Amino acid sequence: MKNVAGTAVVTGGTGGIGLATARGLAGQGYAVTIVGRDPGRGATARAELAAAGPAPARFVRADLSSLTGVSDLAATLRASGPVDVLVNNVGGSYRRHGLTTDGIEAAFALSHLSGYLLTELLVGDMVDRGRGRIVNLSSGAVRVADRTPLDRVEVSGRYFGFTAYGRAKLANLAYTTGLARRLRGTGVTALSADPGGTATDMGRSMRPDSFPWPMKLAFPLIYVNLYRTSVTTAASSSIIAATSDQVEPGSIVGVRGRRRAVDPRATDPATIAAVTALSRELCARHLPQETVGTP
Ligand SMILES: NC(=O)c1ccc[n+]([C@@H]2O[C@H](COP(=O)([O-])OP(=O)(O)OC[C@H]3O[C@@H](n4cnc5c(N)ncnc54)[C@H](OP(=O)(O)O)[C@@H]3O)[C@@H](O)[C@H]2O)c1
Repeated sequence: MKNVAGTAVVTGGTGGIGLATARGLAGQGYAVTIVGRDPGRGATARAELAAAGPAPARFVRADLSSLTGVSDLAATLRASGPVDVLVNNVGGSYRRHGLTTDGIEAAFALSHLSGYLLTELLVGDMVDRGRGRIVNLSSGAVRVADRTPLDRVEVSGRYFGFTAYGRAKLANLAYTTGLARRLRGTGVTALSADPGGTATDMGRSMRPDSFPWPMKLAFPLIYVNLYRTSVTTAASSSIIAATSDQVEPGSIVGVRGRRRAVDPRATDPATIAAVTALSRELCARHLPQETVGTP
């Protein structure tokens, strides 16, 4: 295809930061596949992307809170040709504790496990081709992650949406650090992007009861801050992480390419090993037919 920079997949690409990321990649000539649950939203977003760049755009419907949904998506993607850039953008923070159809805590399932599984099912093809880029979405919430060790899904104390979400993002950051190390010398790069705060559906759904004391006191400030950065500016982090040849594997790219520090807990080999073992075990339990992850 003339003028096509490559193929890119953006999960949660029909709205929020994901759609802004997909728009930026389409503008740079990528043939972008966006993933979401709502076909109407998907069709509108696909039309927008087709107008944003020279390459074709595609919407694939999938519920990524379900491990079967992720595995079916991977099969669809693999059947339609190589993926050059995978942006595991989808994530969620919930006010109340909830379980997915697999019985897994919802924030952990969507903000970590979906990206883990999709990556593990696609990374082998990237390694075989000797090229590829994997971008996982991080968050400032990692700093306030619930302290329950990452060898289990559920937080041990009372559930607060924001700190449980931060813990899922910490799990994902640790996984990404380990993945970047694992991929050294393969031509495939894994790193994270931190879009900062912006007023998307997820950002606007936060309420004071998502935060423990004394963090609750800072809620008005956190909420107001969401409106300081546009969704397009927030998405610059993922777009740069996905396309720049100046990025470092395992690093975090912030808004406008600013380098963000990686939380030391995410570089600790014991944490990386615990997250990897837990993620593999959950996928093996719920998808016994699938071989997921290196031992
Ligand atoms: N917003 C912020 O301030 C902020 C800050 C730091 C990090 N982040 C991270 O940035 C990423 C994007 O966040 P956002 O704020 O843009 O979120 P958002 O607005 O809530 O994302 C909406 C997108 O996700 C899709 N989606 C939601 N649940 C899904 C599911 N179960 N399966 C498939 N698709 C699903 C939606 O499509 P459908 O509804 O059609 O499924 C839509 O495309 C997340 O990883 C988030 O943690 C956000």
